[in-house]
Amino acid sequence: MKITVRIWRQKGPEAKGTMVPYELDDVSEHMSFLEMLDVLNERLTLEGEEPVAFDSDCREGICGMCGVVINGIAHGPEVTTTCQLHMRTFNDGDTIDIEPWRAGAFPVVKDLVVDRGAFDRIIAAGGYITAPTGSAPEANNLPVPKIDADHAFEAATCIGCGACVAACPNGSAMLFTAAKITHLGLLPQGQPERESRVLNMVEQMDAEGFGSCTNIGECTAACPKGIPLDVISQLNRDLMGALAKPGSA
Ligand code: SF4
Ligand code: FES
Repeated sequence: MKITVRIWRQKGPEAKGTMVPYELDDVSEHMSFLEMLDVLNERLTLEGEEPVAFDSDCREGICGMCGVVINGIAHGPEVTTTCQLHMRTFNDGDTIDIEPWRAGAFPVVKDLVVDRGAFDRIIAAGGYITAPTGSAPEANNLPVPKIDADHAFEAATCIGCGACVAACPNGSAMLFTAAKITHLGLLPQGQPERESRVLNMVEQMDAEGFGSCTNIGECTAACPKGIPLDVISQLNRDLMGALAKPGSA
């Protein structure tokens, strides 16, 4: 296929960025989107130009590193991670716009790379348990109702990619934070810190400059793992419960 990509190029955090067009005439429909960028970068390197900076690691949809905005949509036109998107989704002759996540709390580092350290700091504020769990217990030692186990597992599939933030007109991190709170709050091991967790993670989320949730739903529509909006209801229930405790606020 012959395609044109218009890519956001920005030399550094303080530099002014701009969209730069590149023509590619040897794109296979079997390439992943990132392989297409690899081909472009190989060419740019051979031509003595600076390759396009973009993040990736696992390239199989599990690490959450690879997000970019493709034609205005977080992770592109299919509900998947950028690394799992293939060029067969596009047509010969297409022009594809590629930009970094657009969110105040995710500053651009270079080209398509943004700093998602704000997510790490939200996790550090409470996204863990302190119970000494030791080695894996026998499966039936600690019974968990199936409905809770299923819902906790669903929430645990969040890969921290940040598409929810990039898709949200408010730049809210509620879906991400709520997924972590729901995952741990539904399991017995997560109970000791359940109240401090929600208070501290929400406080950190606000401190990082993420916007408020106004129930628009773009987050869940863009989420490659299908994290449902009802995790946000769970977060709000936990938050209200924790704030109602004397001396909590
Ligand atoms: S909730 Fe979905 S979109 Fe948001 S960080 Fe997790 S996996 Fe990515
Ligand atoms: S590179 Fe790991 S999810 Fe895309």
